[in-house]
Amino acid sequence: MPKKEVTATRQTTINAQPRIHQSAAEIQAYGTVSHALPLELEEPVRLEMTEQLNLLLADTMTLRDLYKKSHWQVAGPTFYQLHLLFDKHYEEQAEVVDTIAERIQLLGGVSLAMAADVAETTRIERPPRGREEVPVQISRLLDAHQIIIGHCRQLARRASEIGDDGTNDMVVSDVLRANELQVWFLSEHLVNVPLVHAVDPGVRKAG
Ligand SMILES: [Fe+2]
Repeated sequence: MPKKEVTATRQTTINAQPRIHQSAAEIQAYGTVSHALPLELEEPVRLEMTEQLNLLLADTMTLRDLYKKSHWQVAGPTFYQLHLLFDKHYEEQAEVVDTIAERIQLLGGVSLAMAADVAETTRIERPPRGREEVPVQISRLLDAHQIIIGHCRQLARRASEIGDDGTNDMVVSDVLRANELQVWFLSEHLVNVPLVHAVDPGVRKAG
């Protein structure tokens, strides 16, 4: 090899300059399943489950972000406790997001990740950018939970039917139960009980 070429090769391999602004084609398209790990789950099963899990993921990411919006924008006499509660639920939903996304990858699929893709996919109604009062914030959160819980029940049954017991277990144990518990904590804030003056039993009416 001529001396000049050897020098040129050495300069490109030993170079402290980071190689920035790189690009290349995707290594896997969204909506496909790749590698077959020894999971004993056929491709059609993994395709259906990853598609369904991506819907669940988009809704869960939206609910997670709705909790942070509520945490920041809450107002009123219950500010402090709701500020803390909304953030607790946000953290728990962030855990659920990671669990769902990693299940999709494990099954050979591609997880949704970016906000724009999530916004195009979720079934949860988009809230306004501005602040809303507490009962409206909580109602929105409950509506979002309801969509997720309904999907969990249907998805868990389907996963079981087609032999994906791991997805069934994850959906029930990690997603459904977490959502059910959060629904309870939220709903109790919409019960109209007196804050300061107890209602006279003679005046109290049912309903
Ligand atoms: Fe905060």
